Amino acid sequence: MQVLRKAFKQPLSDVVTEFVACTHADANLVKADLTGSIAHAQMLAEEGLISPSQGEAIGSGLNKLLAKAEEGNFDLKVEYEDVHMNVEKQLEELIGSDALRLHAARSRNDQVALDLRLFTVSAIDSLIDGLNFLQASIVQSAKKHVDVVMPGYTHLQRAQPVLYAHAILAFHEMFARDIERFNDCKKRTAVSPLGAGAQAGSALSINPHSVAQKLGFPKVFSNSIDAVSDRDFAAEFLMACSLTAIHISQMAETLVIWSSSEFGFVELADNVTTTSSLMPHKKNPDPLEIARAKSGAVIGDLVNLLVTLKALPLGYNRDLQETKPPVINSATIVLQALKVMSVCVDAVTVNAEKTLAAASDPALMTTDLVEYLVLKGVPFRQAHEKVAELVADWREKNIALPEVELEEYKKYAPQFEKDVFGLFDPALSVASKKSHGSTGKVAI
Ligand code: ARG
Repeated sequence: MQVLRKAFKQPLSDVVTEFVACTHADANLVKADLTGSIAHAQMLAEEGLISPSQGEAIGSGLNKLLAKAEEGNFDLKVEYEDVHMNVEKQLEELIGSDALRLHAARSRNDQVALDLRLFTVSAIDSLIDGLNFLQASIVQSAKKHVDVVMPGYTHLQRAQPVLYAHAILAFHEMFARDIERFNDCKKRTAVSPLGAGAQAGSALSINPHSVAQKLGFPKVFSNSIDAVSDRDFAAEFLMACSLTAIHISQMAETLVIWSSSEFGFVELADNVTTTSSLMPHKKNPDPLEIARAKSGAVIGDLVNLLVTLKALPLGYNRDLQETKPPVINSATIVLQALKVMSVCVDAVTVNAEKTLAAASDPALMTTDLVEYLVLKGVPFRQAHEKVAELVADWREKNIALPEVELEEYKKYAPQFEKDVFGLFDPALSVASKKSHGSTGKVAI
């Protein structure tokens, strides 16, 4: 920083100035910084630490800067290092010497912690909106294809028939947990560190509780050293972002597979597909692939932050400046990806004939055969073994189970009756599922 250098004999080297500045990341924190400063100035005036007219001059100057920031016209100078000094300098240009009173009982150490917390709380709110929006698209898609039957998979091998609605709604559950996680993280993020000063608090009669209240933060820090160095909230936030990104990636991967020619279960509309510069027939699911790839960057941000924090000695350390880019980057990526996923889900049309054909392989109904025998009193393990033998024998003979004579079935278990042939209908298999959370329509 090229200001506040009265005690130094030389200016800061240019390369060092560039290197230690954080104006690029801080462009995202201008509104948070101004909001925090407005609350701080009000508190200083309330506590008699500045006069009412000084408080008013500072407040109106900061509000003018806020309007400027909202128009996107607040430029940050690298020589002022960060958003805090840039605001102070611009305020001084605007209102003159009253601006010099604003920093009383405050350090950039508690100020930056507050800015990142304000940014994170607002990012959490936007991410929860994005998650709700994506969930709504998922519910719409489930409703639109409510009777579509498809194979459910384990080990990416066809397992049992399920409803498409059940499969897609599995992602709804993941995103519901993500919302809970973000809400939980918000509780520990909305804690005001302002009033901690550089790390020891202040000799001035400040009121950190009233600042917190003005900012809508329900809690205030308890220990000033912890307040300036705590970035746990950022780690929690990035963990919540990472899990959301992983869920997005898994969903993207699933849709990529379902939309491949090999599966052909779904088609993506033209508004979300792109073509090849060489092969004119190509319709590629690029947004899904990019969402899948960008989830890696979010996990990278979490690791980046954890490694930065790992070996910090107690107190404020400048390393903490580097905790801002991963938070800002991941918040931006995940929010964008949620919006893109929502557009992609809206663009999905399920090919019900293909999914039904794939789910009609009689082998997918062998569990129904086992449960059929269990209902007739055969112990589960025995039923499982008998059906396994039946499957193996007729697979070897290359004869599908519905073609096998009842007499033959009875050789494996005399409990088999004519109604066993009714079990090979995938829609009936789905309809027979009545347990809690199952693929049966009532449970869905
Ligand atoms: N520029 C730093 C940041 O925004 C805050 C500076 C604190 N500097 C200091 N010397 N204590 O993270």
